[in-house]
Amino acid sequence: MTACALPREAHAAIALTMTPDERGQAAPDTLGHEEAAAEIARLRAEVDRHNHLYHVKAAPELSDSAYDDLFRRLQALEAAHPSLATPDSPTQRVGADPLESLPNVEHVVPMLSLDSAHDIDAVRRFDERLRKALDDDEVSYVLEPKLDGASLELVYVNGVLERAVTRGNGRVGEGVTENVRTIPSVPLRLGEDTLPAPAFLSVRGEAIMYLGEFENLNQRRIEAGEPPYQNPRNATSGALRQLDSRITATRPLTVLAYDVMEVEGADFATDSEGLAALRAWGLRTPERIRVAESVEEIAEYHRAFDADRESLDYEIDGVVVKLDAWGPRERLGSTSHHPRWAIAYKFEPRKEVTRIDRIFVSVGRTGVLTPVALLRPVEVGGVTVSRASLHNREELERKDLREGDQVRVQRAGDVIPQVVERIAEEGRGRGEAFVMPDECPSCGTEPVEKGPFTVCPNHFACRAQLKGRITHFGSRNALDIEGLGSETAALLVDEGLVNELANIFDLTEDDLVPLEGFAEVSARNLVRAIGERRSVELGRFLVGLGIPEVGVAVAADLAAHFRSVDAIRGAAPEEMEEIHGVGEKMSAAIRNFLDEPRVAEALDRLMAKGIKPTAPPVREAGGDGETDGPESPWAGKRVVLTGALETFSRSELKKILQHLGARVTGSVSARTDLVVAGANPGSKLARARELGVDLVDETELRKRLDASAGGRGGSGDGGDASAADAATR
Ligand code: IVH
Repeated sequence: MTACALPREAHAAIALTMTPDERGQAAPDTLGHEEAAAEIARLRAEVDRHNHLYHVKAAPELSDSAYDDLFRRLQALEAAHPSLATPDSPTQRVGADPLESLPNVEHVVPMLSLDSAHDIDAVRRFDERLRKALDDDEVSYVLEPKLDGASLELVYVNGVLERAVTRGNGRVGEGVTENVRTIPSVPLRLGEDTLPAPAFLSVRGEAIMYLGEFENLNQRRIEAGEPPYQNPRNATSGALRQLDSRITATRPLTVLAYDVMEVEGADFATDSEGLAALRAWGLRTPERIRVAESVEEIAEYHRAFDADRESLDYEIDGVVVKLDAWGPRERLGSTSHHPRWAIAYKFEPRKEVTRIDRIFVSVGRTGVLTPVALLRPVEVGGVTVSRASLHNREELERKDLREGDQVRVQRAGDVIPQVVERIAEEGRGRGEAFVMPDECPSCGTEPVEKGPFTVCPNHFACRAQLKGRITHFGSRNALDIEGLGSETAALLVDEGLVNELANIFDLTEDDLVPLEGFAEVSARNLVRAIGERRSVELGRFLVGLGIPEVGVAVAADLAAHFRSVDAIRGAAPEEMEEIHGVGEKMSAAIRNFLDEPRVAEALDRLMAKGIKPTAPPVREAGGDGETDGPESPWAGKRVVLTGALETFSRSELKKILQHLGARVTGSVSARTDLVVAGANPGSKLARARELGVDLVDETELRKRLDASAGGRGGSGDGGDASAADAATR
């Protein structure tokens, strides 16, 4: 729209000015209050109108310099008459002082996400569901592009922009009002030319960067010696979350509004009416919005947008299909995550063709050897991709990938690079089939095969695993060693002071003092902290070993059942399975780990450092404290947790449920009794719905936990009566 890199307001605000005299206007300070007030009101309306024409309608009537004149006259009048300055003046977009941090702000109504469909059949099922629940004449859809930016809530009170909040976790986001005020397409005051402003409006929209402006921005950054942004979405969220709104003002953001979340003082029967009102109030809405009656029309809209995707000046990743009528929307309601009346019909991920230059093997923190393809760099949807995980031996064989092969790559979920397939090339010789190495590339140990995976069994000494192991050993749920974080662990390994886990008990002050970041006191403290943890609860010690499948809860159960490291090391799988919640798979994983000769030897050396884990106190059977008895309504219930929990930590919740006798399992099946869904749940939620499994969100779960504690008249040790509270303390 303009060749100027900065937004027009910023430009006007900093441009050199002619004096009023030179323009034949009265000098601002010579005007009386009334006169100044009248001219200020007129100028604000003018500036707002031209701003709207320029940024929302893309149909400017004034040249940049004529606009600048108006703007600066307004600035000068406000400066000469400070009592007339108001925050909704167009001069007040930029200039608030930087913030220390962005405040957390609760949304007026939760900002849900959209369920997605990846093919037309899923859209058809969505349509069928709606038609089943509603009358046929209530089913008509609004179609919009699904903008790939950052979602925002704008709140207007009596027509004035009161706050702007990022989506955050959907319930609470970050207050970015000052930043959003600098975005020219966001009216500071709603226009009232054709429709009075409502008393209250909460509207959702997407902040985006047009591609041309994004490229200009990156060009400016490169010239200034700053790193360019990977893509417009990252640049947008970065710009929105600045602490200094003057920086945001230099970033070319646009907000497109698409959803009235809450309104008082205006009444709409349909989304189409709501969108028309948003436009009447001066907000910009997405282009190419249309109404459709059938799945065929939706398919056509999707196809047309997909075909134009590359030539659009902004990024989209699908189209959004929303029921138009508001009444039926309300009747359908929402799950805890998304409205039942809308769906995002996604595009196929972008795919590009490139070549595998080399395949190498990387060793992860748990010892898994992962083949990784080094690719000839290729841009996939705005991001340069130069490597992709090939996952494991079987996957590599299935896709038959070799060095030198031509391949198709995509970004899964538009994020993680993946090699989709090999493209056969006739007449071109191929390299050797890739075989997994017979030595761990990090420590030279012979790897073992575990299912499709290849694993380095040298868990406590392999350098690639050691840093992670040390960090885990000292972490909060394990030995809780203050000062033994990931940076220190890395330093200890890199400096050659720790060559296997047991070595941390050999560290002396003299070893540590010369290290970067250490002084005498910190060295002494760390040595003492490590030494003191020779006496540690058995459960914590087991957690610290990082045995596969053994988290806090299983470790506590193993500790309570076996009561010593030796007993666990000698336990048969069947003995382990006597523990509630330990199945065959878990017992086999534990046994395998402990039986691994290198692990067993390293464990001997670790125990030889004088570690004396303590067994937990014996629970008195049938006593008041016994909470997992048969009377618990949770006894034997299979519960699955999915998505991000907000008020519980996952491990705490798991402990609570297990304490009540429930089994917390990883996947949803017909035998699952309950699924607890947090934010952004994965396929488990869909599966639960499919199977008709009882589904609750955190609030409901909390109620049930409270009810079950209360229902049994409270428990003697208070252990679970306040379980839900304890988790949030
Ligand atoms: S409607 C409750 N319309 O896509 C439904 N969302 O999970 C309100 N998005 O981050 C959302 N373009 O912010 C809607 N035209 C559009 C959209 C859109 C992008 C975002 C949305 C959310 C994600 C869906």
